[in-house]
Amino acid sequence: MPKLFISLLISIGSLLIASAAISSPIIGILTQEVYTDGLISRHFDNKTSYIAASYVKYLEGAGARVVPVWIGRNRSYYEDLMYKINGVLLPGGATWFNQSNGYADAGEHLVQLAMELNDQGIFMPVWGTCLGMELMVYKLADGSEHRINCQGKGIALPMEFKEDFNKSRLFAYISDDIVANMVNKNVTYHWHQFCYTEKDFERDLLNETWRVLSLNHDWDGVEFISTMEHKKYPFYGVQFHPEKPMYEFTKASIPHTAAAVISGQFFADFFVNEARKSNQSFANATEQARALIYNFKPEYTSILGSSYIQQYLFTNDEMEIPDIPEIPDDPDEGGNGNGYIPIIVDGGGGSSSILPLFSGLLLTLLILSNN
Ligand SMILES: *[C@@H]1O[C@H](CO)[C@@H](O)[C@H](O)[C@H]1NC(C)=O
Ligand SMILES: *[C@@H]1O[C@H](CO)[C@@H](O)[C@H](O)[C@H]1NC(C)=O
Ligand SMILES: *[C@@H]1O[C@H](CO)[C@@H](O)[C@H](O)[C@H]1NC(C)=O
Ligand SMILES: *[C@@H]1O[C@H](CO)[C@@H](O)[C@H](O)[C@H]1NC(C)=O
Ligand SMILES: *[C@@H]1O[C@H](CO)[C@@H](O)[C@H](O)[C@H]1NC(C)=O
Ligand SMILES: *[C@@H]1O[C@H](CO)[C@@H](O)[C@H](O)[C@H]1NC(C)=O
Ligand SMILES: *[C@@H]1O[C@H](CO)[C@@H](O)[C@H](O)[C@H]1NC(C)=O
Ligand SMILES: *[C@@H]1O[C@H](CO)[C@@H](O)[C@H](O)[C@H]1NC(C)=O
Repeated sequence: MPKLFISLLISIGSLLIASAAISSPIIGILTQEVYTDGLISRHFDNKTSYIAASYVKYLEGAGARVVPVWIGRNRSYYEDLMYKINGVLLPGGATWFNQSNGYADAGEHLVQLAMELNDQGIFMPVWGTCLGMELMVYKLADGSEHRINCQGKGIALPMEFKEDFNKSRLFAYISDDIVANMVNKNVTYHWHQFCYTEKDFERDLLNETWRVLSLNHDWDGVEFISTMEHKKYPFYGVQFHPEKPMYEFTKASIPHTAAAVISGQFFADFFVNEARKSNQSFANATEQARALIYNFKPEYTSILGSSYIQQYLFTNDEMEIPDIPEIPDDPDEGGNGNGYIPIIVDGGGGSSSILPLFSGLLLTLLILSNN
């Protein structure tokens, strides 16, 4: 009987370890350059980049924590970071892809590195929203432009799913209720100047790398791609803004119905669950704490005329490592670890996946011997 008890403890313990390593992912959100003569530079001194707070809330609302990813760095910065975080979100916004040292160049490093990591067997999901989706497609098409102009500003639309949409990873486990909401109600909010079409994807064989999952029609009736996933990598793109129904209130056209919120939450939950499959972490609690977005406070920018309720704004100085005290990794050492969860088992060929398997086996044997 004591033997049984010990095996049971081991089983439960190892299951806990296995899930602890993945349950609270940390996702990088790429910052974006502010317009030099725009609203932000008129109201704030020396702010060179921003993240709309709605993207942070969107991921936090699904159980993730957020790290801002700076623009204007060299590859080694992005490479170092990509081995510590569990996923990347490329947000929407407004910038040209030909602007150097900004969003587009940083996005290129991130997408390149995400492919390399996945090729090495390290799971690294990437989500692109609106401009982020456009950038991901553009960079994976070796910088050739496939976007067309689109009358896509300020419309709420239902999803027009492709026939086999639920054979995708993104929609494989979606409930019938959410599908019904998405199909019958104006749940997705669009605000885009450009879009991609299926015709264009077929002509240039982008259809070989991307699986198109839904379409929509702009104000002029032009059909465009609204949801896609990469066929090989865990990369996902939406032309609409799943974060806005929940977290942006600056336009009367943004839907805030229960159906729109449930739909937006579906995408957040999906992507954060993808990030939970990654097992990477920062070297220690201090390094993690210095990277997290909690070092910054968002500004209330919609009252100044911004289309974002709140924005995180950064000066070049703030993009350096924040000066905070050392935090013990161990929760019992009084620092509560600040939510730091190290990788329990290091390298050495997937021992972390063998452990739960092994204890599962033990459990089965236990149950069998009890009978
Ligand atoms: C902005 O930068 C200028 C030049 O470096 C500096 O003199 C000024 O103090 C900065 N303003 C703020 C609010 O940091
Ligand atoms: C990248 O930038 C960092 C500082 O941000 C610098 O220390 C490093 O030498 C640079 N690496 C390369 C390869 O340029
Ligand atoms: C970048 O592209 C935009 C739109 O095509 C164009 O107006 C702008 O002049 C370009 N900027 C540079 C630096 O090439
Ligand atoms: C996929 O969607 C079709 C059409 O709505 C439905 O008949 C089918 O049951 C769905 N399959 C799965 C696996 O959900
Ligand atoms: C969705 O919005 C369109 C206008 O863009 C409107 O004609 C339609 O009635 C709306 N549908 C629903 C279900 O609210
Ligand atoms: C992509 O489009 C081309 C041209 O229409 C077609 O020949 C090819 O079969 C398509 N590939 C896929 C995977 O649908
Ligand atoms: C935490 O990790 C960083 C980066 O590897 C390292 O420079 C630092 O010394 C570490 N701090 C502690 C307390 O271990
Ligand atoms: C992390 O996951 C990768 C697969 O993505 C696996 O090869 C590696 O062994 C895992 N590492 C740990 C420490 O669990």
